[in-house]
Amino acid sequence: MSAAAEPSPATAHAAKALTGSVRVPGDKSISHRSLMFGGLAAGQTRIAGLLEGEDVLRTGEAMKAMGAVITRTNEEWIVEGTGNGALLEATEPLDFGNAGTGSRLTMGLVGTYDMETTFTGDASLSKRPMKRILDPLREFGTQIVSMAEGERMPLTLRGPKRAAPITYRVPMASAQVKSAVLLAGLNVPGVTTVIEPVMTRDHTEKMLAGFGAQIEVETDGEGVRHIRLLGEPKLTGRAIQVPGDPSSAAFPLVAALIVPGSDITIENVLMNPTRTGLIDTLLEMGGSIELLNRRDAGGEDVADLRVRHSDLKGVSVPPERAPFMIDEYPVLAVAAAFAEGETVMNGLDELRVKESDRLTATADGLKSNGVTCVEGEDFLRVTGTPGGKGIGGGTVATHLDHRIAMAFLVLGFAAEKPVTVDDRAMIATSFPEFMDLMASLGAEIE
Ligand code: S3P
Repeated sequence: MSAAAEPSPATAHAAKALTGSVRVPGDKSISHRSLMFGGLAAGQTRIAGLLEGEDVLRTGEAMKAMGAVITRTNEEWIVEGTGNGALLEATEPLDFGNAGTGSRLTMGLVGTYDMETTFTGDASLSKRPMKRILDPLREFGTQIVSMAEGERMPLTLRGPKRAAPITYRVPMASAQVKSAVLLAGLNVPGVTTVIEPVMTRDHTEKMLAGFGAQIEVETDGEGVRHIRLLGEPKLTGRAIQVPGDPSSAAFPLVAALIVPGSDITIENVLMNPTRTGLIDTLLEMGGSIELLNRRDAGGEDVADLRVRHSDLKGVSVPPERAPFMIDEYPVLAVAAAFAEGETVMNGLDELRVKESDRLTATADGLKSNGVTCVEGEDFLRVTGTPGGKGIGGGTVATHLDHRIAMAFLVLGFAAEKPVTVDDRAMIATSFPEFMDLMASLGAEIE
């Protein structure tokens, strides 16, 4: 979605009970990786349940520009990969739109190829730090041919003639950085090692193993993960079933908890423990969330979630949980706005470098709707109003951030007064069905 397009505001009104059964779209992290690894592997990858959000489609376009053939049937996406080590040089800049994951993982993927690749993105992506990816790439010998001030996009990379493997300790909790280093290691002879002091989502490790890479993970006595990837593996296409995205499920889930009388089921949600921090927190807050029909779907744990309106209580969320719910803090803050007492969220420094500065965007959105909160350098404290009396009536600046837009529409379903977000456009990056899905449960957005 172009940042230059006219903004399209949306207003959420207080909802009567939300009821019904829904399926959220496929997981964004797994969808990006499915197209990327499928585009790289030899032979055919068939993907069912792919998220057809703008961010993921950009990754598909990038892989096509580098030689993959990607088509869609009624049921599946079919990817014919180039074979590992055989990506082609893109003749045009790769435009990643709003997508941090797509751009950063692709920088890793191409960073050890002796070819030039240019990365561009929208106004939000062009503000996000890329030094965290460029630093390890420099260690592989990648040349940063050009970049915008502050090590940002647009930027152009050229890989070395012959790369040597590295050992890299990830300095912040980031699955994107971990993944970029591992993907760079795919095109390098020898063992690339990532040291991950704080565990983050493990989709790259699991999926690369599924495509045939030799990758081993050892957790030492201090809980630090050592991930070793043997370079230049043969990767072979495979069938993938993408489970429902817990980060998208978060919105109807919190909506049902805070709108009185609600009783909904969200089917087929990914339950990978590196992604369920929000559910753990909401359970501690007294949320009625039942995990039904837990099952294995293509190597990932999934469940149906039955969620009923609940009287929530404020809690203190431990900072070490942050990587397992990093995208869910805006909507957790919305749940906290209806909880009894105070909810304290610590360890939020990474929120400042998401699609927007999500810590400030969340705090500002709460304040403009009459919710009491305190924003610190890396924490947020929210004081709740059970029943939502006096809450709402504000207009929220979304700063090209899909999750800020959806979180504050959810606030509007349970607030006394309507809540407006200044632009709905970015919702299409991760959850194009959001408006229709919420309406099917009985919510009113105009
Ligand atoms: C993602 C990692 C996280 C997350 C993003 C998706 C991934 O980013 O916020 O939405 O798929 O690897 P960081 O690595 O910056 O924490």
